[in-house]
Amino acid sequence: MIKKGIILAGGMGTRMSPLTIAVNKQLLPLYDKPLIYYPLSVLMLAGIKKYLIIVNKGQLNQFRKILPEKNNLGISIEYKEQLKPGGLPQAFTIGEKFIGKDSVSLILGDNFFYGQSLTRILKKNINLGSGAKIFLHPVKNPALYGIATLNQSKKVIKLVEKPKNTKSNYAVTGLYFFDNKVIELTKKLKPSKRGELEIIDLLNLYKRKSKLKAEFIGRGGSWLDTGNISDFYDASNFISAIENRQGLKVACLEEIALNNNWINKNQINLAINFYGKCDYSKYLRSLIA
Ligand code: TTP
Repeated sequence: MIKKGIILAGGMGTRMSPLTIAVNKQLLPLYDKPLIYYPLSVLMLAGIKKYLIIVNKGQLNQFRKILPEKNNLGISIEYKEQLKPGGLPQAFTIGEKFIGKDSVSLILGDNFFYGQSLTRILKKNINLGSGAKIFLHPVKNPALYGIATLNQSKKVIKLVEKPKNTKSNYAVTGLYFFDNKVIELTKKLKPSKRGELEIIDLLNLYKRKSKLKAEFIGRGGSWLDTGNISDFYDASNFISAIENRQGLKVACLEEIALNNNWINKNQINLAINFYGKCDYSKYLRSLIA
């Protein structure tokens, strides 16, 4: 059973410049919340209570302001800095001490998942056992993503980063479950041509040992990109449309914690004080009315 989660919230955010020159992408507002709330909400829905958030050097205090170690969510949060964005697998060397002898989940700080089936899929896969698990979702433009090719029995037979020619349109999303071998295997990786450790290379090490499994986020679920400005605003509009129609919030962290019985009315009241007079607090109040 995976009990720990790493959120990678560093990166340059080059494609979002100039928005990301002074502010880290994960702290930008995706509709009514900082972007990082959304990936954190996904791991909270999976039942994970122990977190390591990896941020860029010098940006710790900004993140601590919105997600303090002592929080009202019933979860524990630790922080570590990544000195330079050297690739996603660095999460496992930076997080070596945090992971200890356990298995671990990784989610990218700019990934947005939503959908009816999401919690069920997460809970179904949280008992990982050995190996690694990736979550696949169809995309229109495979050339922009890590792409998995599957055989007829839906087994992953090939993983390629940003393929120019491929028949598959199954993208590897930014959510991964790994057993404890991930630390040892990460240490075997060499930087790619672009000078980074590549998550696809790490997954291929698992695949070679027949230890890579795939799960599908089907049509009932959404996985949206927030890496460039146009996609970022599309995701924002998507959330706005859902929230304003349903009157329910997407990725309200306190609501998930309350539903998981990790917190009670007291922490909701503390959270209301923390956020101050705003719509988010109004929503929190409605949860305990
Ligand atoms: P990317 O989208 O690959 O990079 P980025 O966010 O820096 O954006 P850009 O390509 O526009 O420069 O990163 C995916 C996510 O992983 C994002 O949430 C940032 C995070 N990340 C790190 O925290 N450390 C890293 O070394 C890398 C490569 C990414």
